[in-house]
Amino acid sequence: MTIRAVVTGAGHYLPERVVPNSEFEKSLDTSDEWIRARSGIERRHFAAEGELTSDLATKAARNALAQAGIDANQIDALVLATSTADLTFPSAATMVQANLGMTRGFAFDVQAVCAGFAYALSNANALILSGQAKRVLVIGAETFSRIMDWTDRSTCVLFGDGAGALVLEAQEGQGTPEDRGILSTDLHSDGRHRDILYVDGGVSTQTTGYLRMQGREVFRHAIEKLAATANAAMEKAGVTTDDVDWIVPHQANIRIIQGTAKKMGLPMAKVVVTVQDHGNTSAASIPLALSVASERGQIAPGDLIVTEAIGGGLAWGAVVLRW
Ligand code: UT7
Repeated sequence: MTIRAVVTGAGHYLPERVVPNSEFEKSLDTSDEWIRARSGIERRHFAAEGELTSDLATKAARNALAQAGIDANQIDALVLATSTADLTFPSAATMVQANLGMTRGFAFDVQAVCAGFAYALSNANALILSGQAKRVLVIGAETFSRIMDWTDRSTCVLFGDGAGALVLEAQEGQGTPEDRGILSTDLHSDGRHRDILYVDGGVSTQTTGYLRMQGREVFRHAIEKLAATANAAMEKAGVTTDDVDWIVPHQANIRIIQGTAKKMGLPMAKVVVTVQDHGNTSAASIPLALSVASERGQIAPGDLIVTEAIGGGLAWGAVVLRW
């Protein structure tokens, strides 16, 4: 008998305000055509004034809990992936814990930028496999609109706000790839590349700072590292591309998504794509895509899913799970 961390609920929340590419044409030397062609993005959601990352996370979490049919007080641990927490401390996770009326268990943030959800899932899986928690609420939530330099056309047109959440529960499996739940995780980071994607502010500098990115450099690393980590995770899980029903990639750029699928030898028909509607929501992009795809009926119970992501650090990783 093997313990598996099985997804029993998924939910998401997107802020009301939808901003089409054309909006940027008013203030920047850019075009809808350039943004679509180079990134695949058509629109994104931006949080309202005063709307916090923990607000988005709380709404996504409520939807996931409702789908799982459980109360927040049945959760043992809450893991929130974000790089845009409300305050320096306490963690956004404890804000969400309070918002949900969850008075037991423990909550903490994970910060691995766009790879944050892979890191959070891996942490949640470890908590369940080690017996420290039976039910874990895993959330990815971001308000990247707060760290955009609105005069920098090479970054501000690419990102959006949103949140997604999964409920993971300990269930018995057979120890085979046929089990439902997380089958493997594969994480990496390499701080030598910290200068190609970072925020030029923080507590020590007493500024919030803005996101800075050498897009072409990040792009170059992305396809190679994403395909490698996805393949490594599949090998650990004992599955091959023939077994894969869906790739649910980090949604940064359609060209990265297509390039990675091609390198893995998988057709785009097996890839969940939401980048056109959400832009890059960093740690929120994978749980958002999972929840949206599940709602659309694209991914169904029993499907084998590979998720992969890369972002600032560089940090990257992949998770193989059976839905
Ligand atoms: O989630 C975290 C990880 N992040 C990513 O995965 C992002 C990775 N990078 C990318 O997605 C792409 O590199 C970008 C979408 C950021 C840029 O696409 P690109 O094909 O790599 O373009 P580029 O940076 O090579 O720029 C091409 C040209 C440049 O002009 P010159 O130097 O060729 O004259 C840019 O100045 O496009 C220009 N450009 C723009 N033009 C119109 C840059 N941004 C814009 C813009 N509108 N918004």
